[in-house]
This record gives sequence, C-alpha cells and structure tokens, in this order.
Amino acid sequence: MKKINVKSYEELSRIAAGFVSDLILAKPDATLGLATGSTPVGLYNQLIAMVQKRDIRFSQVKTFNLDEYVGLNRSHPQSYFRFMQEHLFEKVDIPFYQIHIPNGEAIDLQEECQRYERLIEENGPIDLQILGLGVNGHIGFNEPGTSFNSRTHVVSLAPSTREANARFFSSIEDVPDQAITMGIDTIMRSRHIVLLAYGDRKQEAIRRLFDGDVDEDFPASILKKHPNVTVLYG
Ligand code: F6R
Repeated sequence: MKKINVKSYEELSRIAAGFVSDLILAKPDATLGLATGSTPVGLYNQLIAMVQKRDIRFSQVKTFNLDEYVGLNRSHPQSYFRFMQEHLFEKVDIPFYQIHIPNGEAIDLQEECQRYERLIEENGPIDLQILGLGVNGHIGFNEPGTSFNSRTHVVSLAPSTREANARFFSSIEDVPDQAITMGIDTIMRSRHIVLLAYGDRKQEAIRRLFDGDVDEDFPASILKKHPNVTVLYG
C-alpha cells in the first residue's frame, strides 16, 4: 500500500486527477471505477478542467460507479446518478451509454446486482478504481461485517452511514435504508485502487486503516492485500 500524505484537499484532488489523466492518456478506452460523496468532488473538478483545456478526452472511457441508493429515482437530487451527472458526466465528453451506475429502482434487485457484476466482468478489469473511506471503514457501501468475498449486492445501510449522509437530505428519515454496491471482491479485482481520505472526521479511520489488522469489521483493511493501492490522505 503506497501512502501519500497531502497538505491540502487541493493537492489530494490534483494528485488523484494526475492518476486518472495519466491512465486515459496511455489507454484512451480505460475502464474507470468511480465514487460519489464529498471527497472526490475536487478530483472531478480537476478532470473537467483538463477536458475543457483539451488535455484529456472521455470519449472512449467507460465508467462504473460503486453504488446507488435503492428506491430513489435517477432524477432525485440525492441519487448517485444525479450526483455523477452534475459533478462530472454532464461536463465531460463521455457518451451516455459508456456510463454505468447500478439501477436502484430495478424491480428485481438481485437480478440487477448480477447484471451489474456481469457488465463489470465484460468490460473489466477496472483499470483504476477511486474509493472514499467511510468513518466506520466502509468502502462503497460495504459496511463492517461484509464478507471480503462479496460481489455486487444489496445492503442495509448502517445507522452511522445514514447519519453521515443525512446532511444531504431534509431529515434522516428520508435517507434510504438500502443500497446496491459493488462487493469487496469486485473492488479488489481492479488493477489500481486509489483511496481518498481527507479531514478531521476521517483521522481515526485512516489510523485504523494503516495500523489495524485485516478484518471484516473494518472493510477498507482488505486493501492491504491488494498489490497496487495508493492512499491519498490528509
Ligand atoms: C460513495 C461511497 C462511499 C463514500 C464514503 C465517504 O460512492 O461509496 O463509500 O466514498 O462514504 O464519503 P465522503 O467522501 O462523503 O466522506
């Protein structure tokens, strides 16, 4: 696990964008794994600026998002589909059919999980997977206790995760209690994983990631077993 301690959020975003742009320049049809949440927003802004300057293009890039809430329409302001449109996809030259996000409104959620996993396999392996870090060590929506062997599945969100995400909804009752997420094994199949963690709220989780044991009670700890992980933290 390569650790890069950054001095600012700006630096974290810039270095992360460098990994993505280097990949796209070397492999224009790269497969990217993307995350939502506050942490990657700076990275997405950097990528948009690079596309506007014509330094990189997304025209052949394929993307797979980690997760989506169950039961929110794509047009809901807090759906991860909407989030990605607003923070990246609407502002870069990526064709709509190259974007993939689990469908949280699928009638058969199990079938949707299998479809998504199959799609990743067909287009994979993911060349570069971006991850954020939950305060409880979750990656994607893989909460503590999730099997390290898990593939894309439906999860019940931990109370701490619903509380952490309540800031985006009018009240905690409005936060969905389920989501579809790539599994831990799905994530571990990526060629390169870049985990972003920044700010006071994340310090305890970062410490546990670096110093703790590999344990299903702290999902991010599995990353220590991956041959090519970069942690950008501050
Ligand atoms: C989002 C995701 C989550 C977040 C994590 C950190 O797609 O999978 O695991 O990365 O909850 O969120 P922020 O960046 O908002 O602190």
